[in-house]
Parts: sequence; structure tokens; C-alpha cells
Amino acid sequence: MEVLAAHLPAYTKMVVKGNRGGLPVPLTLGPSCIGRVTDVAPDVFHVIPGDIVLDTALLDAGGGDEILVGWVGLGGSGAGSERTDRMRTVWHDGVFAEKALCAKETMVKLPGAENYPDPARLSFLPWLCIAAAGLHAAGPLTGRDVAVIGATGQLGGAAVLMALAEGAATVTAVGRNKEALERLAELGPRVRIHRLTGDRATDAAGIGPVDVALDALGATPTADATMAAYDSLRGRGTLVLIGGVHQDLIIPYGDLMHRRLTLRGSWMSDEETVTTVWNLIRSGLLDLSAIELLTVGLDDPAAALDLAERTTGLGFVALIP
Ligand SMILES: NC(=O)c1ccc[n+]([C@@H]2O[C@H](COP(=O)([O-])OP(=O)(O)OC[C@H]3O[C@@H](n4cnc5c(N)ncnc54)[C@H](OP(=O)(O)O)[C@@H]3O)[C@@H](O)[C@H]2O)c1
Repeated sequence: MEVLAAHLPAYTKMVVKGNRGGLPVPLTLGPSCIGRVTDVAPDVFHVIPGDIVLDTALLDAGGGDEILVGWVGLGGSGAGSERTDRMRTVWHDGVFAEKALCAKETMVKLPGAENYPDPARLSFLPWLCIAAAGLHAAGPLTGRDVAVIGATGQLGGAAVLMALAEGAATVTAVGRNKEALERLAELGPRVRIHRLTGDRATDAAGIGPVDVALDALGATPTADATMAAYDSLRGRGTLVLIGGVHQDLIIPYGDLMHRRLTLRGSWMSDEETVTTVWNLIRSGLLDLSAIELLTVGLDDPAAALDLAERTTGLGFVALIP
């Protein structure tokens, strides 16, 4: 596959430093990209040379054994197994390269993408799909009040765009970064903003009441913002966790039961979600023009990682190899 553009996640430097889990080094990093198929093995039928595809990196052997090719993070318990080790040995390298050899299971065709005017922008698709899978875990969004915790991050920014595209009545963008929140508010009158104070009760009152809360926070030192989102739910509401919070949550049994709340987790996305999100983009319902696209090449990896680290919210860095 010829790599056209690959999203460089904001926390890639952490991955390189080894702060996000082990990888079978040396390897070519890179979790996902937009690519053009150049050749296929004889047993591959769902894509043909010339197709524009999203490579999702997700390789699923069933039974909880899932890997992201060329990236950290394992499905299931997250602990890995002898089988995920073997999978990572065979499917080793990611897509931060000019050309990539990809497992057929990781490729989803994007019909009509060859006519999309700005393919580099499409490399944000994986984050939009991860956000969409999380939102869909809470059921239909149309006419419901949604909050995105960590909306100032890239996954959170993607979730705000998705919730607006899928007809949420209001989307409350929650985060610390004032400028990023103000930028989100400019997306339209359905967007409300709440700047995190660090006080759980104050934040819960500022966020809610909402029907759906999506937690897309990075690694936070406490679970207070996540629990403020839990507190902000209306009866029968749903909290979905998709972020990188390494904290335990203390959920009051009686409250969850009496308020008929749902707590869900969501990891990565699936082919159906990719197709849905691509169709929203293709039809114009999901407009990517609000996203600020910054591009880098392969020549200066250290500068690229620095730029990615500084770029969050509705901005993202795409590697054009
Ligand atoms: N579920 C999945 O399938 C999946 C897939 C990809 C990534 N992830 C996880 O999602 C997380 C977010 O990814 P991203 O790309 O959106 O990262 P990002 O752009 O760096 O965003 C991080 C977010 O976390 C907030 N944050 C960080 N530290 C905080 C703190 N101490 N207190 C309050 N807020 C804090 C930031 O808020 P401010 O900017 O306002 O400070 C920002 O909104 C990552 O940690 C990753 O592990 C999950």
C-alpha cells in the first residue's frame, strides 16, 4: 500500500519513550493511515489495487486477543497473551512509511475517496471513528444532550464534531484549555462549554444534566473529572469511557441502580463505524473544514513529535511521507 497520510497522535512522543507500554522494537511505528492499495495477496478480495482505504491497524484473533499493528495498546484485558505476542511478531511494522504491508483485516475501503479534495484531512478518520464508536455505545444521539469530557483533546474534539453531525441537541465541551474550548464554541449554537475547575461537584453542575457523557481524557492524576461526568448524568443516562485515564472509579452501587445508569467502555472502532463516518463526511453532514491540518514529512521525526505534542483539540498533525 502507498501511504498517503497518517495521523501522528498527540501522545506519540510518550509512545516512543516507552511510557505507554511495550513494543517489539525495533519497528516502524504508526497506527493508522489513508492509503492507496498497490498490490494484494491472492486471497484478498475486498480491496483491489487503486482503492483508497483506511488502515485501522486493528487485528483481532477473537477471544479478546487484539493488537494494534505498529502501536501500543492491546484489546481484551490489555495484558496480552502468547497469541498476541505471535501476532505482533508476524504483523510488526506500522504505517509511518512511504509504503506499508498491511494485514487484509486492517483495511477498510473508502468508496469515492479518490475524489475527496483533501486526502490528508481524511487521516483524522481513525480518531473520528474511535469517538463515533464510543458515542454509538450510548445509543442514538439525535435530540439528546451530550457532554464530551476532554473535548480539548484530539479524541474529544473528534467526538464533538461527531455528536453535532449525528444530531445531538446540545454538546457540552469540557476541558481545561480555554482557547481550545472557545474554538469549539465557535462550531455552532448547539455547543456549550465548561472549563474544568477540579472540584467534582462544581464540574458536575457545570457539565450537566446530560443524557450521554463521553470521557476522552488523557492520563489524569485523579478520576475527579470522570466522576463529575458520572454525576452529571440524567436518570437512564450513559457514561462511556474511551480515554487514557489510569485510575479506578468508585461507583456508588445504589445510585447507579436507582438512577438506572449505564457505564460502558469502548475501544477502537469497527468496519461498520468506519463506513458510517466516511458516509457522513462524503455526504457533507460531517464537515472537516473546522479541523486545522498541519503536515510533516519523514525527514525530521523529532520535530514532528514535538509539533504533534503541541497540537491538540481541533488541530492535528498528518505525516505525508
Ligand atoms: N478507546 C480507544 O480506543 C482509544 C483510542 C485512541 C486513544 N485513546 C486514549 O485517549 C486519550 C486521549 O487521546 P487524545 O489523542 O485526545 O490526546 P490529547 O489530544 O493529548 O488530549 C488529552 C485530553 O486530556 C486532557 N487532560 C490531560 N491531562 C489532564 C489533567 N491532568 N486534567 C484534566 N484534563 C487533562 C486534555 O485537556 P486540556 O488540553 O484541556 O488540558 C485533553 O482534553 C489517550 O490517552 C489515549 O490513551 C483511546
